[in-house]
Amino acid sequence: MSSSATKTTKVVSGMRTTGSLHLGHYHGVLKNWLKLQHEYDCFFFAADLHALTTHYAERVDFEKNIMNMIIDWLAVGVNPNACTIFVQSEVPEHAELHLLLSMVTPLSWLERVPTFKDQQEKLKDKDLSTYGFLGYPLLQSADILLYKPKYVPVGEDQVTHIELTREVARRFNHLFGKEEGFVEKAELAISKMGKKNARLYRSLLKNYQETGLTEALTQGLALVKEQSILSMGDIKRLEGFLEGTGKVILPEPEALLTPESKMPGLDGQKMSKSYSNVIGLRESKESVEKKIFTMQTDPKRIRRDDPGTPEKCPVWELHKVYSNEDTKKWVQQGCTSAGIGCVDCKRAVCEKIIKEQEPIIAKGLELEANPRMVKEVLRDGCARAREVAKETLAEVSDAIGLIR
Ligand code: TRP
Ligand code: SF4
Repeated sequence: MSSSATKTTKVVSGMRTTGSLHLGHYHGVLKNWLKLQHEYDCFFFAADLHALTTHYAERVDFEKNIMNMIIDWLAVGVNPNACTIFVQSEVPEHAELHLLLSMVTPLSWLERVPTFKDQQEKLKDKDLSTYGFLGYPLLQSADILLYKPKYVPVGEDQVTHIELTREVARRFNHLFGKEEGFVEKAELAISKMGKKNARLYRSLLKNYQETGLTEALTQGLALVKEQSILSMGDIKRLEGFLEGTGKVILPEPEALLTPESKMPGLDGQKMSKSYSNVIGLRESKESVEKKIFTMQTDPKRIRRDDPGTPEKCPVWELHKVYSNEDTKKWVQQGCTSAGIGCVDCKRAVCEKIIKEQEPIIAKGLELEANPRMVKEVLRDGCARAREVAKETLAEVSDAIGLIR
């Protein structure tokens, strides 16, 4: 097994601690983590502070939620010997870096993150016009930048948060990453470009700093490259000046888009807690059976000898995830010819789901009986994470001029 010390490219991802995980999490996020943990130096954490941004009005049993989620991770095979597993709030550098980054983050950048307005709309029963909620994506930026990862595995809905993270890093580097005399040297290089080009460069620079739009950056970089009178050193200087990378203190990470999870819920929609259509990751066999056997089927298949159309049935969606080609053929033929009953069809897929869950449930029980071991995993992970986080925070503080 590869140990995290031999892997140099870092990956960071977090999961909010809001209740227990379901099969959608497994097929979407966790299976992806299982792969990544062997390819990269992965930092996976329970984002309890992020859960607080929406669950702030009542006391939450975080200890229980965190333990449940970590047990879910370990039970599916997230391996503490291959990656670093920890809890966000136990690494106080997350909160510290969030505060420091908040000083250089324009309000408008946060207000224009689509999830801000979307979630406020969606969670109407909660008052989310709070400082903490507005800062949600910036806290995520701090989570990420602390570890200087190359990649951040996230779903489609989180890509704008990674974009924000890149913009914040760029701005921070621009403000605090300059070496002695860097600005003067860059200014001198600009003046060598001639009046017209110098003016254009400055306006693109200003545009890019204010908006963070990559178009201004691309145009600026192209302009610099065209300046045949500039030395290579000056070209590099002006590229760095534009990118804000006199010295890179916080490298810009990239989103690593998680392959779209095809996991359908009990009603055929995407499995999600907000649709109440989930099968829990470690749900009991009896409960899973009950859920599957009470699922809606093709509404046209009322009696046993009515033929049906699998495409109109959510049970078929489950077969697409769980069944092999032979079983799928059996369903197609049996359903459309009324050769099989819905109970037979459901039983086939139910067995597969239960079989998938069996080892996870067993491992979960083992871990539940041994909470000390789980806590030890977290203690180790937290210590490892803090080592990295402390170093970054020291660099950041030093760049700003703070005394530590
Ligand atoms: N916001 C993420 C989500 O809702 C969770 C998260 C918090 C995260 N911090 C992170 C993901 C850092 C990746 C990196 O799914
Ligand atoms: Fe759905 Fe299967 Fe019944 Fe066809 S036989 S309607 S696919 S449950």
